[in-house]
Amino acid sequence: MTAAADRPRRTIVQLSDVHLLAEGLQHGAVDNFANLDLVLGRIEDSELRPDLLLLSGDLADRGEAAAYRRLRRRVELSSERLGAPALYLPGNHDDRPTFRAELLDETPSTAPIDQVTWCGGLRMVAMDSTIPGEEGGELEAEQLAWLCEALAEPAPEGSVLALHHPPVSSPIASMSRIALQHPEQLGEAIAGSDVRVILAGHNHHAMAGTLRGILVWLSPATSYRADPLAPEGSFRGYPGMACSRVDIEGDSVLASAVVVAGEEPIVELPVGSMPER
Ligand SMILES: [Fe+2]
Ligand SMILES: [Fe+2]
Repeated sequence: MTAAADRPRRTIVQLSDVHLLAEGLQHGAVDNFANLDLVLGRIEDSELRPDLLLLSGDLADRGEAAAYRRLRRRVELSSERLGAPALYLPGNHDDRPTFRAELLDETPSTAPIDQVTWCGGLRMVAMDSTIPGEEGGELEAEQLAWLCEALAEPAPEGSVLALHHPPVSSPIASMSRIALQHPEQLGEAIAGSDVRVILAGHNHHAMAGTLRGILVWLSPATSYRADPLAPEGSFRGYPGMACSRVDIEGDSVLASAVVVAGEEPIVELPVGSMPER
């Protein structure tokens, strides 16, 4: 068994809630393709070479085939340049059959899209928390049984669980109402497993929570940002885009929101002017 300290650092770039359209602007105002392009461009321009690009749902705003094709073309471009594969999971705005056909090259079907992939010895379990036709989410009993099976043996570098709907409530009450139903069932399924962190999206704001003591990280969206200070019962979105950088090293998990504002840095210290790690 490899000691935790000897395990390599794995870095996941999480992009969430792209809400891409075949053409036009979301809410008549947001150019989601331009936002995605800016976020991916910032990652490419950095020195970061992530192990994985995780796209955590609400990828096509209306589930259009042309929107998925547009998304895939742009993501695959970055994927190749970065040498990092892309892992796509669906959200409530996505359409399972079209998602399957356009992003996974699979025969269209309405069955949940649950997947296991690997980053070296790190196991990525991506689950489909959507309920077709509804905004809220759930994991069916069969899916929870599948999850227990997938996690039965510990992975060399542990596991990451990714799903669109957060298994925690939100400071925005209207989002809490459409979060994952019965999160305690998910907590039961992963209790005692090697899951290091749960990565979710859906809320369009960065947030950390816990489920059974396991870190739950909600990535901000690449499309626009929701305001946790909006009046009770309302929902307010502002322009702004971001993604997440998640670093996993042994038992240590670092989750960072990376806001992409397109501005020049106000301070930039040269290499060697900061203490070495
Ligand atoms: Fe969304
Ligand atoms: Fe969503």
